[in-house]
Amino acid sequence: MNEADLKQAFNDLKIPSFRFFEETDSTNTQALNWISQGAPEYSLVIAEAQTAGRGRNGRKWVTTPGSSIAVSIILHPSIQEQEKLGLFSLLGGFSVLKVLEDKYHIKAQVKWPNDVLINNKKTAGILAESLWQGENLQGLVLGIGINLMLPSIPHSDQLMFPATCIEVHTKDNINPAEMLACLIEALIRIRKSILSPTFIPLYESSMAYKNQLITLDAGGGEVYSGHLRGVDNQGKIVIQTIDGTEQVFPIGDVKLRPL
Ligand code: BTN
Repeated sequence: MNEADLKQAFNDLKIPSFRFFEETDSTNTQALNWISQGAPEYSLVIAEAQTAGRGRNGRKWVTTPGSSIAVSIILHPSIQEQEKLGLFSLLGGFSVLKVLEDKYHIKAQVKWPNDVLINNKKTAGILAESLWQGENLQGLVLGIGINLMLPSIPHSDQLMFPATCIEVHTKDNINPAEMLACLIEALIRIRKSILSPTFIPLYESSMAYKNQLITLDAGGGEVYSGHLRGVDNQGKIVIQTIDGTEQVFPIGDVKLRPL
């Protein structure tokens, strides 16, 4: 992927501006800095390699040049959207899933809040981070990492969860710049419905482990098991514990595993 490929792929999209790096620390760091300099909505930061790519729960995220996508999308949520900021994490994962299904005909699932699985193995992860000034949201960054080709899969001793990549599941040629353009197009389109009553059921219809027994590690030694029932209208996960009560957990340092 290079700047010219990206320019061509983004031709039909309403992207105000993008920054492309052969190598950077983290596209999320760059995007958060750019927000403080006034980046407009849908500005993008894209990198071939990251030296300090980060994942959820303080984990490291490796981006292998030529075989992965690392992008950070800058958003300025409206006042109504700000009341349900958690939905943006879900939006990121669900948009990746739609591209896999619609462009590559690959059946995928979202592992709440925002990992994307193919055959129960992770192929993409999303890290949503926001910049605040006091109580005012300056902007939100959706950082998306996608494993495209085999070299992008980290060595098994570095993995918290089994991983895969898109190349393994399609015979189609994968053009990273084209895929990125499809992803941004899907995200812009799906975002229009995140506050409508249709979004949550749509997300739940693609949810991994729905109605299955799972464990949820909420940190600080708090581990819950129960049936995964879905998500509420804020994007929080709803679990029915063994005693029949429903418990709701926000997106945070929460780890979800099948039992
Ligand atoms: C996770 O699965 O834990 C989330 C991974 C998010 C990785 C992406 S790659 C682009 C962006 N820049 C980062 O430093 N992280 C995100």
